[in-house]
Amino acid sequence: MILITNKCERQHSLPESVPGILPGGETIMTEKNVAEHAISARSRKNLLEAMRGEAFAFAKYKLFAKQARKNGRTELADLFDKTADQEYMEHFAEQAELLQLVGSDEQDVTNAIAGESFEVDTLYKQFAEEALEDGDEQVAHRFKEIRQDETYHQLAFHEALIKLQTTERAVKAATRGNSKARDY
Ligand SMILES: [Fe+2]
Ligand SMILES: [Fe+2]
Repeated sequence: MILITNKCERQHSLPESVPGILPGGETIMTEKNVAEHAISARSRKNLLEAMRGEAFAFAKYKLFAKQARKNGRTELADLFDKTADQEYMEHFAEQAELLQLVGSDEQDVTNAIAGESFEVDTLYKQFAEEALEDGDEQVAHRFKEIRQDETYHQLAFHEALIKLQTTERAVKAATRGNSKARDY
């Protein structure tokens, strides 16, 4: 079992094998998982980089589509929307499948907590400080505001994980109870 502590001082037991990706790009798969997947470290790194590009293209095209629609250019907006969908539903999703990004719900929530925690504790914290240092007050303000939102995401995922683990324990206990009842 791996234990992580978060800002709200709660501890959760995490499943040992979490086939996900940390925000820094490193996979959080165990050695065993990596061997089973048989994808080289370079290919995993390249898949991640490509997925970042696809995710960015998806988000960018959605914004472009919104703008084109606002400008009355429906055909162009539809083209952006259609392309965005392919970047996400095909290109990102297909590569995510190769990396086995999506796991059990418990693994996915754990993965999400790792991502949100990185944003709260490292990324937005550091970026806000650096923006302030450089005198970019608007940017610093935006980073701080977003960091606040990320703490809510982090908390919501922590609560979801507790709920999942509690439900799972209750189901296991009920199953044990049933089999005992049958024994007598
Ligand atoms: Fe693409
Ligand atoms: Fe978030």
